[in-house]
Amino acid sequence: MPLVLDIGSGTGRYIEAVIETTAADRGLAWQAVACDASRFMVSSGHVTDPSLNRVVALAEALPFQDESFDAVLSFNAVHHFQLEAFLGAAARALRHGGLLLVYTRTPEQNTRTVWGRFFPDFAERETRLYTEQRLRATLACYPQFRFARLEERPWRMRKTLGRLIQQARGRCYSTFSFYTPTEFELALQTFRRRVAAAYPDPSNISVRNDHLLLVAPRY
Ligand SMILES: C[S@@+](CC[C@H](N)C(=O)[O-])C[C@H]1O[C@@H](n2cnc3c(N)ncnc32)[C@H](O)[C@@H]1O
Repeated sequence: MPLVLDIGSGTGRYIEAVIETTAADRGLAWQAVACDASRFMVSSGHVTDPSLNRVVALAEALPFQDESFDAVLSFNAVHHFQLEAFLGAAARALRHGGLLLVYTRTPEQNTRTVWGRFFPDFAERETRLYTEQRLRATLACYPQFRFARLEERPWRMRKTLGRLIQQARGRCYSTFSFYTPTEFELALQTFRRRVAAAYPDPSNISVRNDHLLLVAPRY
C-alpha cells in the first residue's frame, strides 16, 4: 500500500481529506502518517481514519527511514519550517519517483486576502511566508527536485462578516499572535468597519484565497 506523509499536519484535517477523496474518487488506499512539531496538535485531531499514524516530529529532522514514502505533503505550514532543512529531509524521506506537494501562500497572495486588505498591518506583520522567487531559488539547490513546478491556484470563497469576525477571534491565523490583545481588539474594530464599507451585503462577501502549489517529483 502506498505510504504518504503529511508534515506540519496540525490536527490532520488535510491528510484525512486526501485519504477520503482519493479513496472515493480513484479507489486508492493510502497508508498515512501525520507529523507535527506540536504534541498538542498531534493529539487533538479528530481521527476519522483509525489507520492514520500520528507522530511528533520536526519537518527539518524527520525520524523516518530514507526513501520510505511515496508522497510527502505539507499544507499551510512550510513558512514555519527552515526551508533548506525541510527540503533536504523531504528529499531523503521520498523514494525515487515519489512526489512532494507543498501548498502555501506567498506574501503577495497574503496581501490580496481579506485579512491582508482590511485587517490593519496583517500582511506587514506576517514576515514568515516564502516568496515564489525564494522557493524557486532554494529548490534549484536540490537536484532531487529538478523537475519541480510551481502553480498559482486562484481561489475565491464566500464568507459572511460574522464568520470572518469569528475566525479572527478564533485566531485562525498564527499572524494574529503578533498583536497584543489591545492591538488585536482595535484592529478587529477597524477590520469590521472596512469590510462593512467595502461589502454592502455582510452575508455575501466574496474573498480571494489564492495559494501556490509546489509539485516536485523526486528524481
Ligand atoms: C498553520 S498550521 C497548518 C496545519 C495543517 N497543515 C492545516 O492546514 O490544517 C502549521 C502547523 O505546522 C506545525 N509546525 C510548525 N513548525 C513546525 C516544524 N518545524 N516542524 C513540523 N511542524 C511544525 C505547527 O505546530 C502547526 O500545527
